[in-house]
Amino acid sequence: MADTATLRARNFAFWTQTAPGWVRHADRQDEIGRPLGAAAMDGLRPRPGERILDVGCGCGGTTAELAAAVGAGGEAVGVDLAESMVTAARERFPRERHPRLRFVTADIETIDAVPGAPFDAAFSRMTLMLLADPVAGCTTIRRSLRPGGRLAATVFRDGGANPWLAAAMLGAAPHVRSLPPLPIGDEPGPFAFADPARVKRVLAAAGFGAIAIQPHEVTLDAPDEPGTVAEWLIEVGPAGAAYRATAPSGQASARSSVARLLARYRTPGAGYHLPAGLWQITAATDPVRGGRRRRAG
Ligand SMILES: C[S@@+](CC[C@H](N)C(=O)[O-])C[C@H]1O[C@@H](n2cnc3c(N)ncnc32)[C@H](O)[C@@H]1O
Repeated sequence: MADTATLRARNFAFWTQTAPGWVRHADRQDEIGRPLGAAAMDGLRPRPGERILDVGCGCGGTTAELAAAVGAGGEAVGVDLAESMVTAARERFPRERHPRLRFVTADIETIDAVPGAPFDAAFSRMTLMLLADPVAGCTTIRRSLRPGGRLAATVFRDGGANPWLAAAMLGAAPHVRSLPPLPIGDEPGPFAFADPARVKRVLAAAGFGAIAIQPHEVTLDAPDEPGTVAEWLIEVGPAGAAYRATAPSGQASARSSVARLLARYRTPGAGYHLPAGLWQITAATDPVRGGRRRRAG
């Protein structure tokens, strides 16, 4: 496993280079990806008037959902490493029309607490397993919460539970230039939190209690548009940056190849049904000492 500084630099480069794909497909990601966060929304149960943090908020869709759930007396703050995604989030949800919604660019692993802390609760959809140093990132989340503050998150389980996820990379790889380094062992990546015992260890080491991890199955329903679905999955994944740098003929070959690999999830005329196996994670900070307590040992 590479050292933390190397993983952090790799993470920053990856998200900076992949962000244009997330910005381009932001509406699609919000719509088709909604089931990926539904279990975390259920686990969080946002209440009117609360202030909620959205960790790894991407282009802000889930942060806007949280702001709607807490109403006019509450606030939702999204934090993300990728400046261009935060810029897109601000453009998609302008302050004039969304006064209770704020976005911050920051690396959750290297700040003491998210500006505006303490928050009542933290939400995160499909981000915690991507952190270079997940204990450091989750420690910042814990320090950003009030006493008795809640965390609810979703992450992917293993590759077997999410068999379509690798298709975009495998199908595109032969048609684009070099891909970024792929994760080895516990290095950050979509399946780095596959082992629930590791998730529990990370959260406990970060100072969280009341940790619960439950399996959750969802299906992502995408329209019957093979080229569009293939391009969306390529562009938000590890082949995204290389795909954007490839000539149109290579891009078309990459899309066809990915569409072939995804064919088993397609019902012609009805669309794609992509099965996703997640962990629904909930945890809380100490009800008395709160998020700012120091961890023993
Ligand atoms: C898989 S995307 C999920 C985005 C969004 N939550 C969603 O579900 O659409 C992971 C997000 O985490 C962000 N991210 C990765 N490492 C981060 C870090 N150390 N601090 C803050 N954000 C980070 C990335 O920039 C990216 O937007």
